[in-house]
Amino acid sequence: MAYQIAVMAGDGIGTEVIAEAIKVLRKAADRFGLQVELREGLVGGVAYERRGHPLPPETLKLARESQAILFGAVGGGQWDHLPLHLRPEAAILGLRKELGLFANLRPCTTHPSLLGRSPLRSEVIGSGIDLIVVRELTGGLYFGQPKGAQVYDGADRVVDTLAYTDEEITRILRLAFDLALTRKGRLCSVDKANVLATGRRWRELATAIGSHEYPSVDLSHLYVDNCAMQLVINPAQFDVVVTENTFGDILSDISAVLPGSIGLLPSASVGAEGVALYEPVHGSAPDIAGQNKANPLATILCVAMMLQHSFGHQEAAHAVEAAVARVLDAGYRTGDLHQPGCELVGTDRMGDLVANAI
Ligand code: IPM
Ligand code: MG
Repeated sequence: MAYQIAVMAGDGIGTEVIAEAIKVLRKAADRFGLQVELREGLVGGVAYERRGHPLPPETLKLARESQAILFGAVGGGQWDHLPLHLRPEAAILGLRKELGLFANLRPCTTHPSLLGRSPLRSEVIGSGIDLIVVRELTGGLYFGQPKGAQVYDGADRVVDTLAYTDEEITRILRLAFDLALTRKGRLCSVDKANVLATGRRWRELATAIGSHEYPSVDLSHLYVDNCAMQLVINPAQFDVVVTENTFGDILSDISAVLPGSIGLLPSASVGAEGVALYEPVHGSAPDIAGQNKANPLATILCVAMMLQHSFGHQEAAHAVEAAVARVLDAGYRTGDLHQPGCELVGTDRMGDLVANAI
């Protein structure tokens, strides 16, 4: 039976990086005898233009019928004036919520030949980092009710609500503990327990689950402001980091630049079962869209994550990762990572190189 994959390229550089990822996916599928069936869905600004909504019903239906979604990027200045529910970003938020994708996994690893490209000094980045941010994705400020304009005490105001049920907190914590067991066994739970009620509860539950269910995991806690600082002064201390939605949004962007470019980082959004969504951490980058300049490696590494997590094909996943490593070791770079002595290549050439290296 063929694996059903929905392809949602979206806006900006989304179409360019997705095209390269598909090249690599097809090559890996050929090489390892996997059957894949790709079906395209409209999302984001382009979906708004053609269908009047950033997440049209037929796209949501396609998502529900698929085992995995390969997602590019959404957004662009021309849609900034739209109300929140029609902005391109509503597409990704809608998919997360509708599909129950409550956990966002953002691995952040340095590649040896790119250590010099890290914004951190060499003595700080050391021999490299290998951490993963586990971000709660369907709760907190993003979705809490009430949301929007209201009148309070006679004054007009706007409100976002930070709310979490125990169930929402415990399921993401358990997922992070489980992940820590497959890695170095260290979990850092990040909250704002010194100020926020949700943070206090988060810490209580993390402590209880840790001691009762995962005594072998080395659990620590950090306040989110301190964690942001630690990520840039001593990132090597981290293995798995787990946190709520908004904190995870911010911390995962900080961690994403440490390896040298946000153009390298893939992510997976997963739920209790069923479909998972894979998207590069970078956005739609309208400033370089359509110029064959974007780095497709983040999206190509999404293919590796998909092969591993959705289809359980470790070997194929490793082959994609190894191909990326080989191309970087050989000195090929897109503009975001270019340095003297390396060969500057465009988006499509980078995709070809990786596909050929499989
Ligand atoms: C991300 C993005 C999204 C978010 C935007 C595009 C809605 O920043 O995936 O991190 O805030 O979650
Ligand atoms: Mg973000």
